[in-house]
Amino acid sequence: MKNSINQITVIGSGVMGSQIAMVSALAGLKVYLQDISEESLKKAEESLSGHMKKRIAKGKLSSKEVNEAFSRLHFVTSLEEAVKETDFVIEAIVEKVDAKRQLFSEVDRLAPSHTIIATNSSTIVSSKLADVTNRPDKVCNVHFFNPVLVMELVEVVKGPHTSEETANTAVELVKQIKKTPILLNKEISGFVANRILGKIIDEAIYLLENDIATVEEIDLACTKALNHPIGPFALLDLTGIDVNFNIRQILYEETGDESQKPQNIIVEKYTNGEYGRKTGKGFYSYNF
Ligand code: CAA
Repeated sequence: MKNSINQITVIGSGVMGSQIAMVSALAGLKVYLQDISEESLKKAEESLSGHMKKRIAKGKLSSKEVNEAFSRLHFVTSLEEAVKETDFVIEAIVEKVDAKRQLFSEVDRLAPSHTIIATNSSTIVSSKLADVTNRPDKVCNVHFFNPVLVMELVEVVKGPHTSEETANTAVELVKQIKKTPILLNKEISGFVANRILGKIIDEAIYLLENDIATVEEIDLACTKALNHPIGPFALLDLTGIDVNFNIRQILYEETGDESQKPQNIIVEKYTNGEYGRKTGKGFYSYNF
């Protein structure tokens, strides 16, 4: 294993993947952001440019820093090109085990033998993926929070197959990209932050579905009584109702526990394609 990480690859250019790539490039790493969809890469580049322009306007970053970061950030569709010389892969594709397993097996075939392969998933623990590779000791979860450009914490999760060295390298990478790591010594679905957040969201949905208060009022209770930056419904719109649906579906399938099933309001929004900010409508409406 190499001592320091010079090059990383992020696979999947959605909201999470694109911002993971950007923070890494801003921290000085050479980064490949790979996606099979040209259109998704183009959208990612536009969105990141928009965020960077705002930071330049606020004086938080200089144009030089941003230009240099973009010169280190490569948007590619070829998986081979993206991983052939990389030190660290972070997968941020759709929350589906089969898709991730197929990808992990391809990355294992194409990447150098020292490369660590991590998943950004918060629900799919890396022991569900490690066995398709020939390097299970170099597989772990490295889980970021939305919006990645802003949220400081990253959870590094060791599976039973993950070596101490891999976990330490992942923790060091998180520090290198100027985030704050916590290391979970054992796998547990949802990890730390989302397990706590999940309880808050469940309660908010219970209150809404039982007509106790409106979306706006429940959010106000959290922002004005608990000092949360945004309420649970605004947060669901930010992180994606589709993501929440998929996560709950996985938890339900894994445990058979009826209480883990996506709640009616989540199913209704998911079925209507109302995923939140990304579709312009969720619990709130957005005009971009
Ligand atoms: N993407 C990137 N940056 C964003 C953003 C987005 N979608 N939305 C806002 N920002 C940035 C702004 O550019 C601004 O940056 P600077 O401070 O550098 O100028 C900063 O965030 C503050 O933005 P605003 O002043 O416009 O708005 P705000 O004060 O309401 O903050 C927020 C926005 C940071 C999203 C804040 O509402 C917040 O912290 N919300 C809670 C987020 C949260 O709980 N995230 C965890 C979700 S759970 C999760 O992520 C689990 C998972 O598994 C994916």
